[in-house]
Amino acid sequence: MAAPVVCVVGAANIDLISYVPRLPRLGETLHGTRFHMGYGGKGANQAVMAAKLGASVSMVCKLGRDVFGEGTLANFREQGVDVEHVTFTEDAFSGVAPIAVDPDGNNSIIIVTGANDLLSAEDVERARPAIRAAGVVVCQLEITLETSLSALRVAREEGVRTIFNPAPAREELPEELCRLSDVFCPNEPETELLTGGPAGEEAARELLARGAGAVILTLGERGCLVVEEGSARHVPVEPVQAVDTTGAGDAFVGALAYFLAAGRPLIDAADRANRIAAVSVQGSGTQTSFPAAAELPAGVLG
Ligand code: RIB
Repeated sequence: MAAPVVCVVGAANIDLISYVPRLPRLGETLHGTRFHMGYGGKGANQAVMAAKLGASVSMVCKLGRDVFGEGTLANFREQGVDVEHVTFTEDAFSGVAPIAVDPDGNNSIIIVTGANDLLSAEDVERARPAIRAAGVVVCQLEITLETSLSALRVAREEGVRTIFNPAPAREELPEELCRLSDVFCPNEPETELLTGGPAGEEAARELLARGAGAVILTLGERGCLVVEEGSARHVPVEPVQAVDTTGAGDAFVGALAYFLAAGRPLIDAADRANRIAAVSVQGSGTQTSFPAAAELPAGVLG
């Protein structure tokens, strides 16, 4: 069987993760207990997750001409991600994300998007053949809104299914983004900020009314809520002991893209993506905690 094909248009960062006894208060200096530097960025994480499951993935992103950018390129190659549309700029540093993680696995993240802001509509247009070839295109909000919109427009023109993950959270988004999203996939804070109400069926229906084809609200340890025109279904997940939740949402979205590109129905894909995200929170780091196909419990992949 041919591998599912996924194209991700999004950001790549270097994650600078400090493990701390608790998240710092305003003005406070804390001793961390451990440090980890790894490859991150929501787009890159989602691309690597889909590739680890066995998808043929192409990444569209912008890196700085610096040690972080060179490392990120090498990491994509190592993970089997196609880098034809990974480009470099001399005009900004690669994206970085200083992250603090507490003993319960909760995090707080600062992103300095740098080169990611320079990924342009022209870059997306150059990547049109990769978008056309994909079964699913995925975008988020760590690149400019205009660039995400261009990617979703190109995908729609080419008749390719889209997943839009409105992360990090913003209060307002143009309705066109919803209309161009076959699957609109926010987490709880993102949903609350976008709709002004709690993350539940009513909020999901509001996003459907703005034009999304389907809405999947990710609910952390409670799994996710899948809402379509005539149905709403809570898809739970088995409880696990979380070590580090950084990138769990990206593991979910990357896995969802893999399963949808593989032709799985939405609920089935969401259920499998839930289980993969649950595996990811049991390991440290971002991409380092994402399971490869061979490491998954029986039945998750096929
Ligand atoms: O979603 C987790 C990601 O958010 C991290 O990898 C970090 O780079 C930020 O983009």
